[in-house]
Amino acid sequence: MGEASPEALQGEDWAGEMGARWLANLDRFEGMIAPIGAALLARADYQPGERVLDLGCGGGATTLAIAEAVGPEGEALGLDIAPMLIAAAEERAAAAGSRARFVCADAATVRIDGPPFGRLFSRFGAMFFPEPVPAFANLRAMLAPGARIDLAVWAHPRDNVWMMEIMGVVRAHVEVPPAVPRAPGPFAFEDLGYLEEVLTAAGFSAFEAEAHQGVQAVGGPGATPEEATAFALASMAAGQLLAEQGEAVLAAARADLEAMFARHHRPGEGVMLGCKAWLVRARA
Ligand SMILES: C[S@@+](CC[C@H](N)C(=O)[O-])C[C@H]1O[C@@H](n2cnc3c(N)ncnc32)[C@H](O)[C@@H]1O
Repeated sequence: MGEASPEALQGEDWAGEMGARWLANLDRFEGMIAPIGAALLARADYQPGERVLDLGCGGGATTLAIAEAVGPEGEALGLDIAPMLIAAAEERAAAAGSRARFVCADAATVRIDGPPFGRLFSRFGAMFFPEPVPAFANLRAMLAPGARIDLAVWAHPRDNVWMMEIMGVVRAHVEVPPAVPRAPGPFAFEDLGYLEEVLTAAGFSAFEAEAHQGVQAVGGPGATPEEATAFALASMAAGQLLAEQGEAVLAAARADLEAMFARHHRPGEGVMLGCKAWLVRARA
């Protein structure tokens, strides 16, 4: 068994490597988390005329949906640090004739001109701030007093069977140091109490969370075990760790991932594994 290099475990570089990975696998990532996005959008229940900031909007799928809901009197602005994702989102909006607009900037420090936003939305775009309290305080400064925020954040990995299963296979082939609690990354807010602390320290109130539990299609709806394996290896940091161990380790891990995904494959649906996210609401 090999050991992970420190480089492979550094924070996620969304403006560079990680943004490029997300873009290269955009349909598969978005397909996988579409049910959570739909649940968060339903909970947010945007109305015509609202002005909404979509934090960490990625390829902009949710921004386009919000633009549709708020209509021509409203506004949907997608904000993301990754230039290649903002470019893709702008292309999509143009192709769809959407009124969604996009800004490429670091949400921790950006100031967007114009009147304050009445709402803030984020599907898995709020967990990557190295210093979350000043970042959320900066976002709050762009919101109207009392503005509602709706965030989806991953619950603990132990409740995310998809992650446990993938990491179980990876750990059989490479030594992965334990995760640092609260470090920026997909599971930064696995402890919901910590997210409440951060939001409260940043000036938000009326914190409320609802669990969203279900199954999700790893690699997107309809993916075969082979496609889900290729997706996991190409898109997750764990794939990079395995690739660093050389071809023999990578090939053995690929075979084990395919076998594991095959056990969860439902024809017509895809590789279906359990997931849990928190749908969080608070007020500025
Ligand atoms: C897991 S992806 C989610 C993308 C999108 N919300 C979706 O659901 O399809 C996380 C997104 O957050 C963005 N992001 C990370 N740190 C950011 C920051 N400091 N400011 C703005 N965007 C950031 C990334 O570039 C990436 O697009």
